[in-house]
Amino acid sequence: MISESTLLVRPEHLNHHGSLFGGRLLEWLDEQAYIAAITRLDYRANLVTVAIDDVEFHEQVHKGSVLRFRSLLVHVGRTSLTVHTEVARMPSEQKIFEAYVTFVALDKKDRPTLVGKLLLKPFTAKTADEKRHWRKVESERSRRRAKTSQK
Ligand SMILES: CC(C)(COP(=O)(O)OP(=O)(O)OC[C@H]1O[C@@H](n2cnc3c(N)ncnc32)[C@H](O)[C@@H]1OP(=O)(O)O)[C@@H](O)C(=O)NCCC(=O)NCCS
Repeated sequence: MISESTLLVRPEHLNHHGSLFGGRLLEWLDEQAYIAAITRLDYRANLVTVAIDDVEFHEQVHKGSVLRFRSLLVHVGRTSLTVHTEVARMPSEQKIFEAYVTFVALDKKDRPTLVGKLLLKPFTAKTADEKRHWRKVESERSRRRAKTSQK
């Protein structure tokens, strides 16, 4: 289930160069990804962002641009879930940005808790795209585990 929304870049969103401030894009990204994640979970879910991966800004975005955010839940771990978001300039649909946001489900004492039991529907990667994202997140998790075990 893709979660989609469209935003207009206004003067208050710009940096001192007159193009979209990267921090603003990250704020929108975090919020859009959060919506995609929380709407797949039941009312008890309490999520915090633990990581944003693969952030690269390739294109300047100017005032008056219309940006479409498409967010997709792509991975469910033990206590975490990951959403991939793609941002495109409209109406050309030119992709300008994409990233993975990982959230952790917390219990009432703010400790990581099993996220699977909070899902409204079991998660499985079905399409080729979903499988590609799943593999990407899994390889990032392995890389992180290897790094942690070296410490
Ligand atoms: C989220 C938080 C409770 C996790 O604590 P922690 O000690 O890292 O917990 P764990 O090591 O048990 O990891 C919990 C999950 O996060 C995942 N995780 C941890 N660091 C990660 C990273 N850098 N990237 C992706 N996932 C990560 C782990 O893989 C694990 O997922 P899994 O159970 O599905 O395998 C803690 O880091 C925290 O409170 N962070 C602040 C969150 C916050 O305030 N966010 C708002 C932005 S400032």
